Order: sequence, then C-alpha cells, then structure tokens
Amino acid sequence: MPEPLDTALTEVRALLLDPALTRAVAAGRRRGQRPSVVRAELRPVALKAGTRLQIATSDGDRPFTRNVAPGAEADAAVDALLAEPFGNWHVETVDATVQLRVTKSGEAQVHRARTARTAAEPGGHDRVKEYLLDPGDPIFAEIGGSAAKRRQVDAFLRALAATLPDDLTGPLRVVDLGCGNAYLTFAAYRYLSQRGLDVHLVGVDVRPDQRRRNTDLAARLGWADRVTFVAGTIADAVVDPAPDLVLALHACDTATDEALARSLRWGARWVLAAPCCHHDLAAQLRTRPAPGAYDLLTRQGILRERFADVLTDALRAALLRLHGYRAEVVEFVDSQHTPRNLLIRARRTGAEGTRAQRAEYRDLVDQWGVTPRLETLLAADEG
Ligand SMILES: C[S@@+](CC[C@H](N)C(=O)[O-])C[C@H]1O[C@@H](n2cnc3c(N)ncnc32)[C@H](O)[C@@H]1O
Repeated sequence: MPEPLDTALTEVRALLLDPALTRAVAAGRRRGQRPSVVRAELRPVALKAGTRLQIATSDGDRPFTRNVAPGAEADAAVDALLAEPFGNWHVETVDATVQLRVTKSGEAQVHRARTARTAAEPGGHDRVKEYLLDPGDPIFAEIGGSAAKRRQVDAFLRALAATLPDDLTGPLRVVDLGCGNAYLTFAAYRYLSQRGLDVHLVGVDVRPDQRRRNTDLAARLGWADRVTFVAGTIADAVVDPAPDLVLALHACDTATDEALARSLRWGARWVLAAPCCHHDLAAQLRTRPAPGAYDLLTRQGILRERFADVLTDALRAALLRLHGYRAEVVEFVDSQHTPRNLLIRARRTGAEGTRAQRAEYRDLVDQWGVTPRLETLLAADEG
C-alpha cells in the first residue's frame, strides 16, 4: 500500500543516521524531476579519527566521495540527499532492509524486510562492527578465502587505516609484494577506494599462474584498469611508477627482506610487511657460538628459532630506522588467527639514523656474529 512520502523519508532518514547502517543507495528519479547526481551510496567507514559516514555520489561521469562526521555534519548531508528527487532508496542495516520507491503519483511504496542472522553470527551488529570491510560485501563471494584469512586481512587493513593520515587525498599507488591469490590486494583496493582515494594497485608474485588467475578476477570485479598483476620477483618486477605504499603479507622467509629493500629503493612513504617464516638468522645462529651468557637462548632448536624470529624483526626495524623510516613492530591480529601475527609498520621520515643508532645496530649483529639478509640487500643497493 502506498504511504505518504514524507513519513517514509523520515523513516529512511533515521536508518541512514543509525550506527547500524551498513549500506544505502539512492538512484533513479521522480516523474518530471532530475536529481543533481545520478546515484548516491552511503556506508560507514572506520577511520583513525573514528567512524565516518561515507557518501559517494556520481554525476554520471566522475565519482565524488566524502566522509562526514556523525552529528550535525552527517545530519545536513543526509537531509540534502533526501531533498533530492531520487526515485528509489535502498537501505540496509544489520537488522533490516528497507526499499522505498516513489510512485508516479508521488507517494512511497515501501518494502521492509528483517535481515536473517545465521547461528554462526548471533550478534549481527557486533559482526559488522568487528570488521573494517563489510563481510557481506559481494567482492568476498568472488575472491573467496577462509574465515581465518578474512579475519587476518581485515586486521591488516585496520593497521593500514591506522597508518595512513585521515586527510590523505590524491592518487595513491600501491603494491602488494608476494600477493599470492591476491586476497589482500583486492580487499585493500576495496578499502582504499571506499575511503575515496584514487587508487592504482599492483600485485606482484613470482608465479605466472597467480598473475593469470588474479588478472581474470580483477576483470570479473570490473577493476581491470585499477588492479593489475605482474609475474616477477619482488626484487626485480617492473612496477612503474614507484608506489607510495607497499604491502607484503607473509612473503616467505627472506622475501620480506626483499620487500623491505625494494620499498627503500622506491622511497615508499609507507610500508606494511607482516613477515612469514624466518630461516635465515636461525641457520646462522646454529653455526655460531652465542655471546657471553646467552647460550641458553639458542641451545635448543625451538628456542633458537623463536629467538631468531625476534632478532630478525628487531634488526629489520633497526635497519629501516637507519634508512630514514620510523619503524615499529606490532601484533596486527590475534595469534589464534595466524601464528605469523607480527607486522613491521614503517613511515618514511627522511631522517637518517643517528650515530648512536648505528652503533647500537652494529653492536647487536657483531655480538651474535650474524649478517641479516636485509643488511646485505641494502649494502648491495648502496654499493
Ligand atoms: C605465503 S604466500 C602469501 C600470499 C599472500 N600475500 C597472502 O597473504 O595470502 C607467499 C607468496 O609470495 C610469493 N613469493 C615468495 N617469494 C617471492 C619473491 N621473491 N618474489 C615474488 N613472489 C614471491 C609466493 O609465490 C607466494 O604466492
């Protein structure tokens, strides 16, 4: 039954401003009228400064995206959109879907449905807030991946969200090194473009079969001109122009060192690398006596491996600091989702390391008699 349009739009307004909103789209036009934009899409996005309402509009040629703060700013933006003579509103919250169509006589035909929750997802609202990317996003049906992988990648993107400045604008060149089946690549593209950034992302993997598969997937998602793939090594793959942001999730063993060395060569502004296994220093420690009283740390195999992990990442972060980056090592996801849950997060400052930092680094590697792979790669680049 048709309803008064004003009353129905008041209901839509409340849903658009509700924290339970997951997505809304306005499109079409009312009889004899033309909205100033052909389409508007709204969704909540998690930024470092907190949740914002993202509004993406299109004039038919170019998209325009902005993020508005909850409160007066969001109220005004939503009111402006509701005043446009759109013919349809489709609004999804964690609990309900409401579809409003404006009839020829200017009334509202409204369809309301409750969102079904599965037993595995008892708290729909919490489920959505837990993730940076909406788990119901249709891209996941295309890119697949296990629940653990999804959780891991979402957590990686949260770390990315906390790294990039909120006011970042302009084109952003991104590379995902050792991208494998590109789960992170596609999810990162989705997240960054939802932030309104003009993103071009290149996935690099040594396996040509991955390049073919991922290129097909990009075409199916309609992103072929924005997300491209190169079959090549992290050290040498052609990525032109150089990226601003480097991602590397579980690139094997010293491939993480290659990713860090390549990032420095590119002068990337941000680097997020979650290391995988660390065999390089563990092998070196096996053949050298531990310094002083530290023999107990490396005498047993499992302790030696764990200590090598810590030493490797501490030295990687130290080398980044010596080469003009502010670097930290953080846990990006709970270890129940992956035991490889450390992330080296670096931001270019341009400040070279101090003499004291150099001495500190040299002291540590000399005491243990090791040469980290990253040191060798950087020396080769400098030499
Ligand atoms: C453990 S998988 C991780 C894949 C993906 N980043 C993820 O997290 O799902 C590591 C990937 O890095 C690739 N890889 C390893 N060493 C590489 C190198 N030196 N150059 C390019 N790719 C490399 C492998 O082919 C593999 O696909």
